[in-house]
Amino acid sequence: MCGIVGYIGTKNTKEILLSGLKELEYRGYDSAGIAVLQNGIFSSYKAVGKLINLEMKTKDFKTEGFALGIGHTRWATHGKPTELNAHPHFGENSCVVHNGIIENYAELKRELQTDGVTFLSQTDTEVIVHQFEKNQKESNNSFEAFTKTIKDIHGAYAILLATKGESETLFFAKQGSPLLIGINDVNEKYFASSDTPLIGQCSDVTYLEDGDYGYVTPTKIALFDKNGAEKETKFVALSQNKLLAQKEGYRFFMEKEIYEQSRVISDTLMGRAGKDEILFDELDSSLFDGINEIKLCACGTSYHAAMSASYLFERYAKVKTSIEVASEFRYRKPIMTKDTLFVVISQSGETADTLETLKMAKAAGLKTLVICNVDNSSMVRLADASILTRAGIEKGVASTKAFATQITVFWMLSLYIAKLRGSLSQEETASHIDTLRKVPSHVKVSDEMHERIKRLSKRYLHGHGFFFIGRDIFYPLALEGALKLKEISYLHAEGYPAGEMKHGPIALADPTLFTIALLPKHLLYEKAKSNVEELSARDSTICAISQIPFDKADDFVEISACEHYMLEFFEMMVVVQLLSLEISIRLGNDVDMPRNLAKSVTVE
Ligand code: G6P
Repeated sequence: MCGIVGYIGTKNTKEILLSGLKELEYRGYDSAGIAVLQNGIFSSYKAVGKLINLEMKTKDFKTEGFALGIGHTRWATHGKPTELNAHPHFGENSCVVHNGIIENYAELKRELQTDGVTFLSQTDTEVIVHQFEKNQKESNNSFEAFTKTIKDIHGAYAILLATKGESETLFFAKQGSPLLIGINDVNEKYFASSDTPLIGQCSDVTYLEDGDYGYVTPTKIALFDKNGAEKETKFVALSQNKLLAQKEGYRFFMEKEIYEQSRVISDTLMGRAGKDEILFDELDSSLFDGINEIKLCACGTSYHAAMSASYLFERYAKVKTSIEVASEFRYRKPIMTKDTLFVVISQSGETADTLETLKMAKAAGLKTLVICNVDNSSMVRLADASILTRAGIEKGVASTKAFATQITVFWMLSLYIAKLRGSLSQEETASHIDTLRKVPSHVKVSDEMHERIKRLSKRYLHGHGFFFIGRDIFYPLALEGALKLKEISYLHAEGYPAGEMKHGPIALADPTLFTIALLPKHLLYEKAKSNVEELSARDSTICAISQIPFDKADDFVEISACEHYMLEFFEMMVVVQLLSLEISIRLGNDVDMPRNLAKSVTVE
């Protein structure tokens, strides 16, 4: 991850690469690099942090005349954001940039190391270039070697690769991660991960499909499909609106991020969801030695993920779990015992309250773990161990895909701990993993679903309040649904355990009290249903979300038929996110930057 550019032509290659990377900044990154092949010689520069650092490093580097170049902005997933880990990665005569995750990198790396290859970085990407050179030695034909390489690697990728012996050829491949080729009337060829770097440079683009690969020379674009059959390159005119291009056609970043959930959850699972076990390369299982309790601490949406985790941990890992709102934990003189694993959850890794609790836990000598989306963030640097959620940058202030990946990590972590504690059989774990693999398809937003919610939203723009209700793990989801709605619609919304409504809140029930009822078929359905009936009997307006039709509801959103309550959880998560989005849009609010809120709260 996270952004790629490439160029073949006679203009100033360095400038084209750097300005292309600048246009990809919106995708988030923690380091960047370029490589230029000119007259058979590679020049490469990398820098950690903002692009200005790379610009400074390359200020005396000039490219005139024909050259080919590749560039990359990196959002760390395997290995820290260091210069060594920044792309491009080099072998002896070739270099590569890559977005995505190579699932079988550890296996390939071991084999290559046995053959005597030395690795310089901790990345999964570096295996691509070494594997290519190994194949190149065996075949003596670079394209054949490249074709074999993409068969050898499994996972998600957009790849650009250049090799010295072919100084007019850029090899490319796409599987799961976006990659475009742009052209113009002066016969230049551009590559990028999205439209934005190509705007102003290219007139037409082709959006590569999964499985596509090939090579580009100054005079040719050779494109092959996943079966190796050569295919025609179909170009379409490139839109010239940059902001729209950054949002990839969506109205708001939040909407784009809701739609991205399927892909980022796949990234989160990649290399971790094994056949019948969960693998976290980044964890040493001794972290859990002597642990009798897990304490989870976070703020906002991350707190709701923590609360969800507490249900999974106790149910599957059979470990006592408690949760804390970070701002409360800080000042209540908590008792901290060394048999407790202290886990903080944070999208940004910078939230002041959460960071402070991590410092407290460290000072008390507890083992610590952070679940985070940003490598090298303060929390990742401080905690004993970290698991990255791999959601990519989240721009919408209202968190969506970060939450989805946090839940995915927690579900996996509950299985990982269950294995250590022997609390689930191998069959049970394998069946969970099977279900986990279905999550990406269950969070895909269908046109019908989005349309339905768009239409429904017009009935929920007023009223004196919303209650999102659910039981068990659907209670934290209800809290999250309510938080989403209040954050961006400014309407009053509360999340409540469905069974608790009768102990007070039901007094509010009337037709302008809107109840959003989460009714999973596979978890306490009858119990939750009777709680909703109590509200319906008091004339509250009910919007039920379920796979079972519910005749006491005023509105009903049907999720797809599935066999596990966690799949229902993920589907309902998308429904409540879309509902908030559509209500907010109808109310004319700034969806991505709601009033009074900040993406990352680094002050107390
Ligand atoms: C802020 C954001 C929330 C977020 C919370 C915790 O309040 O507006 O969306 O959930 O911080 O952020 P973190 O980065 O620690 O997950």
